[in-house]
Amino acid sequence: MNEPSTPTITTVRNVSKVYQQGDRTVAALHDVNLSIQSGAFVAVMGASGSGKSTLLHLMSGLTQPTSGDISVEGQSLAALSDLQLTRFRRRRIGLVFQDFNLIPSLTARDNLLFPIHAAGIKQCDEAEIDALATRLGIQDRLNHRPDALSGGERQRVAIGRSLITNPAIVFADEPTGSLDSVTGQTICRLLRELCDQQQRTVVVVTHEPSVAVWADQIVVLKDGAVVEQFPTGEFRDAQSLAAHYQQVIGAELALS
Ligand SMILES: Nc1ncnc2c1ncn2[C@@H]1O[C@H](COP(=O)(O)OP(=O)(O)OP(=O)(O)O)[C@@H](O)[C@H]1O
Ligand SMILES: [Mg+2]
Repeated sequence: MNEPSTPTITTVRNVSKVYQQGDRTVAALHDVNLSIQSGAFVAVMGASGSGKSTLLHLMSGLTQPTSGDISVEGQSLAALSDLQLTRFRRRRIGLVFQDFNLIPSLTARDNLLFPIHAAGIKQCDEAEIDALATRLGIQDRLNHRPDALSGGERQRVAIGRSLITNPAIVFADEPTGSLDSVTGQTICRLLRELCDQQQRTVVVVTHEPSVAVWADQIVVLKDGAVVEQFPTGEFRDAQSLAAHYQQVIGAELALS
């Protein structure tokens, strides 16, 4: 008997991206194919310049591929007009950045709620906001502005902001890159819990094995191509994962 198949949230088909800089062209991605299943925690790894952020920006609809197609919840992003794409992104795609990207003049609560206002969603359930803030561990910090929050708290607010519209998928580009390693691990644990307990789908770009080891699946990029995709299950810890990753990309890697 066949197992019931997990729905695919995001599909990347034969995607290439070429940047034009004056008369120089940079082929950032070549013929990338990828499927992200609902409820998965996926880490995209690769050396600097391997195309990780480019892939994340394409999957989140921030930039368009040169060729190929990306769909989210069965919706081809290329089929949408600019306005439709903006609306789709605001409602269905969550984004988390390395430097948090919070609005300095707004309290944590207003930063959290910002996408609700931007997406024009009127109703805003107070109990849901409280539940989200409690889950994120920032319930006591909601009236503070970002400059009164620690880096870890800022990233928790940014993660909350990415979840507030209940998106289909959350993309995070090096979400622990500006945090110390202990705080970074608490953010990884939080992302893991969001997948395990709330069936969220999360894609994290990282070059740190200590972050990637929290994921279910690892996609390794090298020179703009997917060179390997494997489950993390067979690796006990960040060291054994780092050793395998090093083999795959064939480069020295400093353990973080
Ligand atoms: N807007 C752009 N214009 C021109 N070239 C770009 C642009 N963005 C990225 N690139 C180039 O595309 C390639 C892939 O860059 P990308 O930012 O995706 O790498 P990355 O894996 O995220 O690297 P890092 O780990 O340093 O963040 C690099 O050669 C980069 O210089
Ligand atoms: Mg990058």
